[in-house]
Amino acid sequence: MKNITVIGTSYVGLTTGACFADMGNQVVGIDVDEEKIARLRQGILPIHEPGLQEVVVRNANAGRLRFTTSYEEGMREAEFVFIAVGTPDDGKGGADLSQVRTAAQSIAEALTRPVIVINKSTVPIGTGDLVTSIIDEHKQSDISFSVVSNPEFLREGSALADCMNPDRVVLGSTDRAAAETVATLYLSLKCPMIITDLRTAEMIKYASNAFLAARISFINEIAAICEQLGADVKEVALGMGFDKRIGPAFLEAGLGFGGSCFPKDVKALMWMAQEAGQHPQLLQAVMDINRDRRQWVIQRLRDRLGDLHSKRIALLGLAFKPNTDDVREAPSLEVIAHLQAAGACVAAYDPVAMGNAAAVTEGVEFCSDAYAAAAGSDAVVLITEWNEFKNLDLERIKASMHRPILLDGRNLYEHDELRRMGFDYLGVARGGGPVEAVREQQVIR
Ligand code: UDX
Repeated sequence: MKNITVIGTSYVGLTTGACFADMGNQVVGIDVDEEKIARLRQGILPIHEPGLQEVVVRNANAGRLRFTTSYEEGMREAEFVFIAVGTPDDGKGGADLSQVRTAAQSIAEALTRPVIVINKSTVPIGTGDLVTSIIDEHKQSDISFSVVSNPEFLREGSALADCMNPDRVVLGSTDRAAAETVATLYLSLKCPMIITDLRTAEMIKYASNAFLAARISFINEIAAICEQLGADVKEVALGMGFDKRIGPAFLEAGLGFGGSCFPKDVKALMWMAQEAGQHPQLLQAVMDINRDRRQWVIQRLRDRLGDLHSKRIALLGLAFKPNTDDVREAPSLEVIAHLQAAGACVAAYDPVAMGNAAAVTEGVEFCSDAYAAAAGSDAVVLITEWNEFKNLDLERIKASMHRPILLDGRNLYEHDELRRMGFDYLGVARGGGPVEAVREQQVIR
């Protein structure tokens, strides 16, 4: 049993704290947001994350997990202090480190015993050194501390499972003994552990996220080419994925990536590269391709409906991916903006993300279910592949629509079946594109 303090109670902080408590440790979660802490004490979570509430409540009831706004109280027994605060886009492409700086200073001011400070937030390379200097500057007495980078790789929607079954644990520090001590916290997870230096650990996180984002943009670029040449990108991805060097994951073409990590982290890595005098060409293309995926919806709707002015377009799904209520950088928001700019009326339904979407959009008609959204619409666009959209009564949807156009932005449905039902159905590069035209051009050449 170890005494662990986690600063920040959002996706990373709350999940990390709950998992460490579930592994038998004594955990305190600190957050500066008093309302958030008051609600957490009542078992009300600030985020929608499957299974997390049960683990939080169970460990709180067992006395292993508690929450406070006070660093003094939260740090009193701490042997390990995890920083898991937000590092949002600073508006210039870099990461805003103000929450990390505040956390480091508050740790220093509350330091009464030697601790290991562990950074879980995704932070620019060199932030571990910054945290060290802030604590050195603000600590009240000559108490020893070490700083370790331990990036988190959990995904929203499967945060608990990812936290308990990591593919690897990365630890980086200038103090190897400190990194090895932190490694003991993860021994029961029986996963590979990489111990390296601070900057390398910080870079492993950015490089991993940028690589995954690049895979998505790669398959989306292939999809755009498939669409023109009449190939089926889903089967192309399947055929590629059997190659052990490639693997099947993260090859789903669609509307591109969103969320709080990929867009922000790719931009931050580009910014760091530019600051260091590098020209990150691939990363720029990853972002450009991703932006174009949102336009795909508008282009295909225009192909079918012409002028979108006054057309009613129903969006199914608003969250950036299923099983989360998060709409940060979600494709839905860009699609809504493009549709509204074209004069279309947007109706939408999402199982859990409508509240968050309503806070950042205007003029959208939020509906009680997929059927209400689809009724009277000129087209339905599937934006997020929620499970509940897999088994919709599509006959009912078709019968209620003004025109039976279904744009499947996530390739959720089987195109033959939908076309048999009488839908004017279009998935992302599912074959049957303008291949004849291409052949003719080739003959001419
Ligand atoms: C990601 C990383 O996976 C995780 O390791 C890191 O800690 C945080 O960032 P997350 O943003 O929660 O996690 O979601 P993820 O499941 O990775 O999906 C990101 C986006 O990519 C979603 O918008 C998803 O729809 C999209 N995506 C994913 C695709 O478009 N195609 C794919 O094949 C996979």
